[in-house]
Amino acid sequence: MKAKIKLLNQKLAEGKAGGGRKREDTQHNKGKLTARERISLLMDPGSFEEIGALVVHRSSDFGLEDDKIYGDGVVTGYGTVNHRLVYVFAQDFTVFGGSLSETNSEKICKVMELAMKTGAPMIGLNDSGGARIQEGVRSLGGYADIFYRNVLASGVIPQISAIMGPCAGGAVYSPAITDFTLMVEHTSYMFVTGPSVVKTVTNESVTAEELGGAGAHSVKSGVTHLTSANDVECIAQLKQLLTYLPQNCEDTTPKSPYTLGDETREVLEDIIPENANKAYDMRSVITGICDEASFFEIHKDYAENIVVGFARLAGRTIGIVANQPNRLAGVLDIKSSRKAARFTRFCDCFNIPLLVLVDVPGFLPGTDQEWHGIITNGAKLLYALSEATVPRITVITRKAYGGAYDVMNSKHIGADMNFAWPSAEIAVMGARGASEIIFKKEISEATNHAGKLAEKEAEYAEKFATPYLAAERGFIDEVIEPKETRKKLIKAFAMLENKVAVLPKKKHGNIPL
Ligand code: HXC
Repeated sequence: MKAKIKLLNQKLAEGKAGGGRKREDTQHNKGKLTARERISLLMDPGSFEEIGALVVHRSSDFGLEDDKIYGDGVVTGYGTVNHRLVYVFAQDFTVFGGSLSETNSEKICKVMELAMKTGAPMIGLNDSGGARIQEGVRSLGGYADIFYRNVLASGVIPQISAIMGPCAGGAVYSPAITDFTLMVEHTSYMFVTGPSVVKTVTNESVTAEELGGAGAHSVKSGVTHLTSANDVECIAQLKQLLTYLPQNCEDTTPKSPYTLGDETREVLEDIIPENANKAYDMRSVITGICDEASFFEIHKDYAENIVVGFARLAGRTIGIVANQPNRLAGVLDIKSSRKAARFTRFCDCFNIPLLVLVDVPGFLPGTDQEWHGIITNGAKLLYALSEATVPRITVITRKAYGGAYDVMNSKHIGADMNFAWPSAEIAVMGARGASEIIFKKEISEATNHAGKLAEKEAEYAEKFATPYLAAERGFIDEVIEPKETRKKLIKAFAMLENKVAVLPKKKHGNIPL
């Protein structure tokens, strides 16, 4: 063994052991760090312990037999990030293109199992040409072994995938099952089939970047949750994300020290415009409510009509789901429903209390939405919120119309506390649409149609577009001044800290996927 370690050290010095070799500085590789550099950036200094450094592949085909490199293209182990235990694997593109062999997969599965047994996050730093071609079905099986463990670990420990190079073919399904995917702009890509297969099958000409780069997946597909300009930024984002997360599903959410002071926030008073049809940025409500600079947005560039992310309230992590009136008037559509549902389920898996901020005119109408399944997809959000047992609080800032009122964490689907600002409009639909339907006859008989419509609209708004009818029924617990929101939420979340809610006994529910 001593001889082997000596040999490993010698190979490391020569740059022949996995993970430490420099890449050629080609355009494609620009700014890419090695697997070991990435790990040392991620972990607290001196905390990383490597597992399986002496593993080599078993392949004896296509010239691989004479080229056994210690570590076999992946560095695995454990260490701490901000003094909390995490497990990591980092694929090493300098060894057989980081391709996944049988032994390489065994190394990854070993740390995944340790992560599950010890209840700590699992982090994958992906940079790989996919299944090692020379190993055939053994490498395909290796991928399936990882997918299977991803599924078993789902909801037990947070799983995070950083894509820092190629990630193609079936390999993409491991990150897809994990909780968060990060991508580096211009040096990483993910696709099921690459540009050449796309050209052959569909005759589309597309570059790897266009097809599956960070831009495509952050804006169009929503596959990636966070993007960064380079490896260093990507690792920094990953470390920041970890600060919000518990270690496992039985852990409590992280809480940093906070001394209560004057929690009134005057800034919240001036956000809602006088004109109910004018947009505003819900992020200013979020930053006004939460601890300073604590909002960490997820999926920022995807389905921008809903905002999701983590923040801290009096030091404690919360998850936020908020309609964004600045984009499509904050309407719920297929993408935003899916985005919010997935985030809600993550928070519920890991005991992260939910704050839902509501300003929603309803679901997006039209053939495109109907034919692509707004019914099934909208139901995902309804289902996810209804089954969430974490503390759930709602604040309606302005519109809460129609079915979207029900879906956005209403009292009726199990929310614990429901607040509304005086500007809230809780109704079946907006004043104009409602007046056109219920006063149709009166308006058509009037000599001045427009004048009559305006009169009826005002009448309707006065009667229905307020929070007070809902408050009379107890569907809203309290109508609060915007400046008091932070104070009220801190108290309400503290009150709910020991909430226990049990769902009916079942194997598992059947969310409309
Ligand atoms: C074995 C591989 C490899 C692979 C790359 N290499 N991919 N070796 N199996 N899958 C090796 C290359 O032979 C080369 O070795 C070195 O890694 C670097 O590769 P290059 O091609 O020189 O690098 P680059 O030009 O940067 O191109 C990177 C690449 C390309 C785009 C990833 O290598 C590529 O297209 N690879 C194949 C991708 C692929 O189709 N994989 C299978 C996907 S299907 P030398 O010795 O020359 O340095 C899949 C199924 C998973 O993964 C199924 C799960 C269910």
